[in-house]
Amino acid sequence: MGVIAFGGAATLVTARFALIRSRAEREPAIRVPRFDVPLKIPAVLEPSRRTATQDDYDIVQSEADQEILPGHVTKIWGYQGVFPGPTIRVRSGHAAVVHQTNRLSVHTVTHVHGGRTPADSDGFATDMVMPGETRTYKYPNQQRASTLWYHDHAMDRTGENVYRGLAGFYIVEDDEELSLPLPKGDCDVPLVLQDRRFNMDGSLMYDTFGHEGIQGDIMLVNGVPWPRMEVSTRKYRFRILNGSNARPFQLALSNGDPLIVIGTDGGLLAEPVAVRNLPLAMAERAEVVVDFSRVPVGSKIFLMNTRERPERQQLMRFDVTHRESDNASVPSRLSDPGFLSRPASVNTRTWALQRSFSMRHGLPPFVWTINGKHFDPDRSDAKVPLGEIELWRLRNEGAGQQLHPAHVHLAHFQIVERNGKPPLAHEKGWKDTVALEDGEEALVMIRFEQFRGRYMLHCHNLEHEDHAMMSRFDVV
Ligand code: C2O
Ligand code: CU
Ligand code: CU
Repeated sequence: MGVIAFGGAATLVTARFALIRSRAEREPAIRVPRFDVPLKIPAVLEPSRRTATQDDYDIVQSEADQEILPGHVTKIWGYQGVFPGPTIRVRSGHAAVVHQTNRLSVHTVTHVHGGRTPADSDGFATDMVMPGETRTYKYPNQQRASTLWYHDHAMDRTGENVYRGLAGFYIVEDDEELSLPLPKGDCDVPLVLQDRRFNMDGSLMYDTFGHEGIQGDIMLVNGVPWPRMEVSTRKYRFRILNGSNARPFQLALSNGDPLIVIGTDGGLLAEPVAVRNLPLAMAERAEVVVDFSRVPVGSKIFLMNTRERPERQQLMRFDVTHRESDNASVPSRLSDPGFLSRPASVNTRTWALQRSFSMRHGLPPFVWTINGKHFDPDRSDAKVPLGEIELWRLRNEGAGQQLHPAHVHLAHFQIVERNGKPPLAHEKGWKDTVALEDGEEALVMIRFEQFRGRYMLHCHNLEHEDHAMMSRFDVV
């Protein structure tokens, strides 16, 4: 922090806040060992009942004590009392029925992010499940193989609910994908990246007034701080999810090897793309293959976030501990994504993510809006005809140097243009979230199928979302 002017009360408050923040950034409240704790893989949830057409799952949302930082106990809010929640693995075309019981002291809403879900099961922000209640969510899973996730979506408190633990993987498999020679079993590894801040007593520190977005100083992968993972000299498939409330990533390997991107939010790409730097905004997923087969045994390779200062880049470490032959491969042709073709005439809509000035809540004087409006669950901002292709212009109208990952429920989209140019190589697949830096714009082609009803579109900085950067649209 540079010069501090003692001009008035507001300046003083700002200056003091900045001081606290920079000190906290320099030294984490609790000292945590790095690259010492082994990576954990979230358990796959077993169905409680199985029939020919559907699997039923029972999930209890509860508070629990979990040792996240070695030697400390943290109270978390978790699906089945664990952070992150158990992984739900489903087959395309085979329905999942999830009975969610809320044993927490706050209301919750559960949403499958990237799911093609009927409106009454999609987790509309006001479809609250109160403490003690159970709600049944039905997921038809009529969609291609993809790495989705389920997380809380309660109006005004999504950020805190997710921060305290309410998030897990939801993985859809299909025959096409299973027939490919990609790494499988123990070599198919989900990784959720989350940052958190802890108090000295081990509790999670969440600032409910932090409308800019809450970031932490401790990096968790699958709920483990700066973990290490033992690997052998072969290929691995990593399903990487940015599950942070407000921290974007740019992923890279410390040995300079490429990340071979095979999939996006909505499943496999048509063909793999090797990249050295992979941006991953909040809620985005990237499926990558990493090939350790030419790496000498004994090597230690870091997964890095190159958006950070050098001393904060390392996220986790791969220790190459043993030699193993590799029968997996990455085919040059992965899948037919079934892309849409652009019709001669098409309806276009613009969704502008903005910071607006308003005295609606008194202080602070600015709010996050879409097309100048705050979220109102009773107001529909668009009526979109079922089955019709539309072009949506999603843009970050700036004022604040903030990244806004724009997310649309119900349908995946194709990015047609990013800032008037073709999309980035690794974005040429189905997406449900597009990262928009200050002033950026994405033109996407979208078509809603299967279900009518009310859905949401919002920024996936969860604190922006909670501060009303959300719209309701209706598929009619
Ligand atoms: Cu990841 Cu509206 O959600
Ligand atoms: Cu979603
Ligand atoms: Cu935002």
